[in-house]
Amino acid sequence: IRCQSTNTNEPKTRRSLLDNASNLLTNVLSGGSLGSMPTAEGAVSDLLGRPLFFSLYDWFLEHGSVYKLAFGPKAFVVVSDPIVARHILRENAFSYDKGILADILEPIMGKGLIPADLDTWKQRRRVIVPGFHALYLEAMVKIFTDCSERTILKFEKLLEGEHSSGGNAIELDLEAEFSSLALDIIGLGVFNYDFGSVTKESPVIKAVYGTLFEAEHRSTFYIPYWKFPLARWIVPRQRKFQNDLKVINDCLDELIKNAKDTRQETDVEKLQQRDYLNLKDASLLRFLVDMRGADADDGQLRDDLMTMLIAGHETTAAVLTWAVFFLAQNPSIIRKAQAEIDSVLGQERPTFESLKKLEYIRLIVMESLRLYPQPPLLIRRALKPDVLPGGYKGDKDGYSIPAGTDIFVSVYNLHRSPYFWDRPHEFEPERFLEQRKDVGIEGWSGFDPTRSPGALYPNEITSDYAFLPFGGGPRKCVGDQFAVMESTVGLVLLLQKFDVELKGSPELVELVTGATIHTKNGLWCKLKKRSDK
Ligand code: HEM
Repeated sequence: IRCQSTNTNEPKTRRSLLDNASNLLTNVLSGGSLGSMPTAEGAVSDLLGRPLFFSLYDWFLEHGSVYKLAFGPKAFVVVSDPIVARHILRENAFSYDKGILADILEPIMGKGLIPADLDTWKQRRRVIVPGFHALYLEAMVKIFTDCSERTILKFEKLLEGEHSSGGNAIELDLEAEFSSLALDIIGLGVFNYDFGSVTKESPVIKAVYGTLFEAEHRSTFYIPYWKFPLARWIVPRQRKFQNDLKVINDCLDELIKNAKDTRQETDVEKLQQRDYLNLKDASLLRFLVDMRGADADDGQLRDDLMTMLIAGHETTAAVLTWAVFFLAQNPSIIRKAQAEIDSVLGQERPTFESLKKLEYIRLIVMESLRLYPQPPLLIRRALKPDVLPGGYKGDKDGYSIPAGTDIFVSVYNLHRSPYFWDRPHEFEPERFLEQRKDVGIEGWSGFDPTRSPGALYPNEITSDYAFLPFGGGPRKCVGDQFAVMESTVGLVLLLQKFDVELKGSPELVELVTGATIHTKNGLWCKLKKRSDK
């Protein structure tokens, strides 16, 4: 089977036949032309056995920074250019919605921020963003540390057992461990619920993983059969999914009810006077319920919490996983990181203030996000016709796109673009300190770390959209600082005590993608007590 070019001049009858062949083609090109845009013609076999974003990268090198990719009747525009990405994500952001992504996620997240329609999004974003205020983040650092300590304690106990039988290392799937850690953190941080998943299994945890698994299945499955009437009753995995959703929703409903029963109405000023570090419940749910004027019905609150749970769990777990994957292959970087930890913290716990000084660890997190961005593609659909700006590779006039065009902004391609990065595939956290300021491209102002003073991490502003660890524009991640600090604390506690090696060779770690990039069979590592301690 060939993955054919969609010739927009092909006879209308043929197109409408194709359209009728599937009533699910929400993303069929309609009412316009993609002009002379280069087209990727890959075999479907290119897509089997390896993640889609690898093929998108090869086609980017071959066809340029804006090209069209066609799968039978489906077509996508793939963007790997900072100027075009900036246009779609920031300058003309409200001419786009989340398209296929919203189709997939809406049954799970309802009207949560990610899939929400524009009106709901505007209203909820205004309410949710202030929830991530400085005192909240400070309280979260305590939660990150408490939860990470629980994980480290578990490793230490396992290692003690190993020592008593003569061994000096334990072998663990760190991806699974980070997944549990991130779940515990997001549960406590967002709705003050302790999943305790580092040490136990529960029906709610199983339901959360079941739902995440289904979200991933849906994001990679070609035909959205779950939309067919009766699918939820007939197809066993869909029946299970409905059951999982019910378990989580019942749990969230209970938490929302508790939060509302104990509501203490407040405003921003009074909130600042709360002793956040000693609050029993500093969660975002508490904020959303207590804040005057932030009223939302239970259904909306549940959608917000579910969205946060999913958006904040897998992403952070994946960043920690890939950071360790790279560290384990670079002992000299581990040493340098440990030297920073020793000098800033010694054996102390990290705090909100001391975290700011752990710059090198933060750069390790950012470099991991450069090489494996989570998610690797940002998905958009044009709500109206638009003209994309010319890209850096001399496409001066840009391309007209019709309403309904589905777009992948390939963050993976941007982050590994040979046009912007030296040694793009190498893991070099120091690169952010010495990145070229300008490469003389019209319309793109280059890298400039001074452009976002006080920023916790290199970002879309300092790179003028060549580096998008948390997206950009109005739909940018709301949990970016939460996530950077959480990942930093996780790495700090691990490296404070342990040295890490991969169990096998790096080539054996196979990649798969759903919403995020993860491993096929786990990240199996050897953990030993630090040799220099
Ligand atoms: C959106 C990345 C952690 C909540 C996004 C987007 C990216 C992203 C790239 C933009 C998506 C788009 O434009 O289509 C990440 C990464 C994380 C992370 C890499 C971890 C390292 C979190 C956490 C939370 C969170 C911890 C919540 C506590 C959200 C929400 C949105 C979002 C609610 C939707 C924002 C909107 O549409 O207004 N995230 N995220 N994320 N993220 Fe994160």
